[in-house]
Amino acid sequence: MVPRQRFSDHAGLGRQWADFVGRLCARILFLRLFPGSRQGGLVFSVRLRLDGRMETILVTGAAGFIGSHTVDRLLADGFTVVGVDNFRTGRKENLEKAGKSDRFRLEEADCTDAERMKALVASARPLAVIHLAALVSVQESMENPDLNFRLNLHAVHVMAEAARLAGVKRFVFASSAAIYGEHTNMPIRESVRKRPISPYGAAKYAAEGLLLGFGRSFDMTVVCQRYFNVFGPRQDPSSPYSGVISIFDRLFREGKPVTIFGTGRQTRDFVSVHDVARANLLAATGKVRASCSHNICTGKPASLHDLVKQFGRHYPGYPAPRFEAARPGDIEQSIGSPETAKQTINFWAEIDLAGGLRELVQGKPLDIGSPLDPRPGFLER
Ligand SMILES: NC(=O)c1ccc[n+]([C@@H]2O[C@H](COP(=O)([O-])OP(=O)(O)OC[C@H]3O[C@@H](n4cnc5c(N)ncnc54)[C@H](O)[C@@H]3O)[C@@H](O)[C@H]2O)c1
Repeated sequence: MVPRQRFSDHAGLGRQWADFVGRLCARILFLRLFPGSRQGGLVFSVRLRLDGRMETILVTGAAGFIGSHTVDRLLADGFTVVGVDNFRTGRKENLEKAGKSDRFRLEEADCTDAERMKALVASARPLAVIHLAALVSVQESMENPDLNFRLNLHAVHVMAEAARLAGVKRFVFASSAAIYGEHTNMPIRESVRKRPISPYGAAKYAAEGLLLGFGRSFDMTVVCQRYFNVFGPRQDPSSPYSGVISIFDRLFREGKPVTIFGTGRQTRDFVSVHDVARANLLAATGKVRASCSHNICTGKPASLHDLVKQFGRHYPGYPAPRFEAARPGDIEQSIGSPETAKQTINFWAEIDLAGGLRELVQGKPLDIGSPLDPRPGFLER
């Protein structure tokens, strides 16, 4: 067993300080050599370790919706990224921007392939693994619980074990609000009883337990991010399992009526994929005191009626929604408390629903900020 290293030891502090000064010098040198390198709100800089190697983050599910935005965010902040994806639901087009960077490499591989994952993580020697690859649909997990087990639990073990063997110190996991199940007291805090009502939610909850056990046993800090309803560009509207916003977006575009299952008063906590990508960056590279699980959400409720109204502002004269019976298993309310993530990874959502929808409808990418934006916890580990 690898002995746990304490944050407070002097050698650790000295190393962190030297690391910080080293990176600052590298950044100043780079900006002096390439003074015109600020373009499109992003600064082209690279993150170097003291041993001269690039600072690498390994992202699984890199070609997916959240994965590709996370890759873009990490590259914009100067990291080198190794992406892993088997294209089960991911798409090559999502990585068009990333593919232009020489700091990005994609490995077409399956996360359940233990030997391949061990070799890949060992050769990448990443600062952190961000594990996003999964079977992402509640409905599909009901139809195929065995596949759900392999992709949402077994694969997590494979990745954690590969990370442990390679001495990776930080493991970020894409958990989900689905672990909570049905609750009536909103907002949902992390401490409430977990009552997942699908194999998907159950596997995510079990995976958190497995990973937090790794965190307690080995020299690895685990950050479990319980995303609520993520929305934004690149969410696949053609998938029957896709999020409601991407489906509404397509129907409004085509001038077709949206279908509301149930009363339309059911509420959700919609969080922009750009905020989620930033939360992943903070969880993987920011200061984190101990392994933790927290909600990644806005804390602000929006009903399906609110959504229709907001879309309607962009599409005057849109057809009235159709109503159908509520679908079994649909939860009435799901609003998260965003407080814990402020304490653990210094994250709070910055993009509101109206701004995020405007981006979707107008197809104009939001300015996600420059890596030089001062963010506490940044550049320090
Ligand atoms: N989108 C949401 O609202 C939401 C909410 C809560 C949690 N999550 C979680 O976030 C993560 C990313 O979800 P997403 O919405 O981007 O979905 P997505 O389908 O767009 O991304 C998943 C990616 O993982 C890849 N993948 C699946 N199985 C793989 C395997 N065995 N090996 C390698 N790659 C594999 C897919 O090809 C895809 O690119 C998932 O873990 C999901 O459970 C998403």
